[in-house]
Amino acid sequence: MNRRVRVAPSILSADFSRLGAEIRAVTRAGADVIHVDVMDAHFVPNLTLGPPVIRSVRGASSLPFDVHLMMTHPQKYLEAFAKAGADWLTVHVEACGRRLPAVARAIRSMGARPGVAINPETPFSRVVPYLNHFDLLLCMTVHPGFGGQKFITDVLPKLRMAHVWISKHRPDMILSVDGGIDERTARMARRSGVTLLVAGSAVFGNADYEKAIKRVRGGR
Ligand code: DX5
Ligand code: ZN
Repeated sequence: MNRRVRVAPSILSADFSRLGAEIRAVTRAGADVIHVDVMDAHFVPNLTLGPPVIRSVRGASSLPFDVHLMMTHPQKYLEAFAKAGADWLTVHVEACGRRLPAVARAIRSMGARPGVAINPETPFSRVVPYLNHFDLLLCMTVHPGFGGQKFITDVLPKLRMAHVWISKHRPDMILSVDGGIDERTARMARRSGVTLLVAGSAVFGNADYEKAIKRVRGGR
């Protein structure tokens, strides 16, 4: 039996001058989750937004907000993001390393759910010791920092490895991908066991959000 695959539009590719309206539009168009990219100009060479922006658009949708923290020191800001309305807080294994269990506990204590993200070149084995602390694994299929990049197909074997591990140990864990997802790469990701597809430019770059989300979700 196939579990329904969910789609999370990444607002990084939205029109920031109309962010609330964009979030309402993708919500109406059938999105399952709203993906918010937070970049600190240190962990990645780009700078985006923080808790005040999240708080200001939180009322635009009742969907869960999945906040992807591309930050070197996310610990200091977890509470601010949780209070601003993040439902999920995803931190990077490359940034947190051995602090991951404590970070996951802190996220839960704030009433949010913890996710862990892994960059394209980081081996799956690096995150395995920590997976039991998390409810979501986000595999990056581009180098984080910018929307509109090309899907790195070399990550597919890692996705399959992650899927096998999750099926065996944590069948309730969400396997997510982020970067370069369009109709074609979403199909590859789904076939590798992914259950949550993050898509920025494929959704916001299409005039018809509903059609774009359906295409990424696939199936019939
Ligand atoms: C990249 C971000 C992504 C980005 C995806 O660092 O984490 O969420 O918005 O954008 P697309 O789907 O255009 O690759
Ligand atoms: Zn992201």
